[in-house]
Amino acid sequence: MMKSVRLSTSFALLALVLSLADAYDPSPLQDICVAVPEPHNALFVNGKFCKNPSLTTADDFFLSGLQVPRSTANPVGSNVTQVTVDLIPGLNTLGISLARIDYGIGGLNPPHIHPRGTEVLLVLEGTLYLGFVTSNQLNNTFFEKVVHPGDVFVFPIGMIHFQLNIGKTNAVAISSLSSQNPGVITVANALFNAKPPISPEVLAKGFQVDEKLVETLQKKFWSNN
Ligand SMILES: *[C@@H]1O[C@H](CO)[C@@H](O)[C@H](O)[C@H]1NC(C)=O
Ligand SMILES: *[C@@H]1O[C@H](CO)[C@@H](O)[C@H](O)[C@H]1NC(C)=O
Repeated sequence: MMKSVRLSTSFALLALVLSLADAYDPSPLQDICVAVPEPHNALFVNGKFCKNPSLTTADDFFLSGLQVPRSTANPVGSNVTQVTVDLIPGLNTLGISLARIDYGIGGLNPPHIHPRGTEVLLVLEGTLYLGFVTSNQLNNTFFEKVVHPGDVFVFPIGMIHFQLNIGKTNAVAISSLSSQNPGVITVANALFNAKPPISPEVLAKGFQVDEKLVETLQKKFWSNN
């Protein structure tokens, strides 16, 4: 009797701790969500609205065509096909998505950040040199690796990372990301192709280079791969 009372007390305590641990804001599922004072013409969004389950079909969870190689004829020589909730509505609220990445010979998936997702990359074809850099707190430590078909590499959420095709053939990788909408910030594009442009004075000081070099970079054609 005594024992079961103690047991149920500890269960109640555990439940309390768990409910406290749960009492935080939901993770954002899009870049921005600006508060408005009244809901007229506004949309509550964290993720997307849910379809009535009785109207849901198998096709809400389906996509085909990911076996087709993508064109890598662009300045960086790679092409990322993101399969997020925008393409598969059934991913809504599930915290997962996918990408196919094609690399031409010498192709680079340039240094970028996924603000909302950790990435697990699986090499299908080719040889990649890849890595990520930790935050300032961990002294910007660089973790690098050369990977081959069948190899898997993890890019922790929010870290700057890249992949470069160093093989003699095209390369292909599949990535899984821990968000229905992981987001992408391509570092160079975000800084040198911001609209309107960031003042060259800011970038010159930030990168410890000449303003002329910054202006040259800002005039380049920055395309998202
Ligand atoms: C990626 O590949 C698709 C299909 O081949 C193509 O339409 C698209 O323009 C490519 N994107 C880039 C940035 O090269
Ligand atoms: C980062 O650098 C500081 C100063 O050199 C050092 O004390 C600290 O141990 C380093 N931390 C890591 C994780 O390397």
